[in-house]
Amino acid sequence: MTINWGILGAGKIAHKFTNDFKAVSNGTIKAVASRSSSRSEEFAKQYNIEKSYASYLEMLQDSEIDVVYIATPHNFHFEHASMCLNNGKSVLCEKPVCVNSQEFEILSHLAKEKQLFFMEALWTYYLPAILKSMEWIYTGKIGEVKQVQVSFGFNGDMNKEGRLANSNLAGGALLDIGIYGIAISELIFNDKVENIQSMAHIGETGVDEYNTIQIKYQKGGMAQISSSLVSNMKNEAVIYGTKGRIIIPKFWMAKESILITNGEQLNFVDKSPELGYNYEAFAVNKLLEKGQLESPVIPIWKSKKILSLLDQVRKQIGLEYPFEK
Ligand SMILES: NC(=O)c1ccc[n+]([C@@H]2O[C@H](COP(=O)([O-])OP(=O)(O)OC[C@H]3O[C@@H](n4cnc5c(N)ncnc54)[C@H](OP(=O)(O)O)[C@@H]3O)[C@@H](O)[C@H]2O)c1
Repeated sequence: MTINWGILGAGKIAHKFTNDFKAVSNGTIKAVASRSSSRSEEFAKQYNIEKSYASYLEMLQDSEIDVVYIATPHNFHFEHASMCLNNGKSVLCEKPVCVNSQEFEILSHLAKEKQLFFMEALWTYYLPAILKSMEWIYTGKIGEVKQVQVSFGFNGDMNKEGRLANSNLAGGALLDIGIYGIAISELIFNDKVENIQSMAHIGETGVDEYNTIQIKYQKGGMAQISSSLVSNMKNEAVIYGTKGRIIIPKFWMAKESILITNGEQLNFVDKSPELGYNYEAFAVNKLLEKGQLESPVIPIWKSKKILSLLDQVRKQIGLEYPFEK
């Protein structure tokens, strides 16, 4: 059984995902849809994709497509995922899966009602360097994990029409990259949140340019998470335990992980040439083959929890989008 994919939106991340898909043995990208016929045709030609559509809906009416990768800006995820589910397609949707919890509540119910697979593309959870870090944690290599410090920041394109700065496209650091810090903290502590506190600088375009979040979990774990669209940060996650620490450079797209205990260092390196989107795609194919409706790695409840934390931060920092008012 080969799982047939459709790519919805032929933008930046769609290119990266499709390029990595060459390493996916258990599925095929059968079609791509763009609002522009020339863009979808060029995309299809570049990656040797059989079909190209100049309308998202037309691709969703193609009975050969099993699952759709949604690669549009955040604010369109709700509309596009609804379209997919209503047309009988399973969904792998880019992060954040929705802009707020209300949207996600509706979508997750729709997926359940239609008995279709639905997953947020939090690809980080499937990366070998992250899995190795979790193995080190589970096997007690760094003792009891107490704190996590995370930074993710770059000097981004803050042109007010662009996706990062535009409030009509749900821009800002929190939803674009801060979500990765929350996601890694959730993966490591996997515990009830006792308290979350945050601050941000809201820029001229009405989105958070940079922010800091602190989370305290019930069993005592603490996370400090900073993200920025206007400055280059250290870009790493450091996990501190009672017996050592783990450093994950560029943790959201991790290719390596460093274990430091008693003055000794052990490095894990994922030498595969892909960026790593192939791992989540491979996993989705496996789940679809088995008829599963959600991923055990990124289940609906986890996306729901992450979104509720994002909602709380947004309330604290006063980040509201024009289309939500
Ligand atoms: N997993 C990751 O590592 C990762 C990395 C980057 C981004 N992302 C996520 O992927 C999503 C897309 O990000 P991106 O950087 O690829 O965005 P992008 O290149 O700016 O836009 C993606 C595509 O969305 C489509 N689109 C549909 N309606 C649109 C509208 N009104 N305005 C602009 N674009 C519209 C366009 O495709 P057509 O014109 O072809 O229809 C566009 O090329 C975001 O939610 C982001 O968070 C994930």
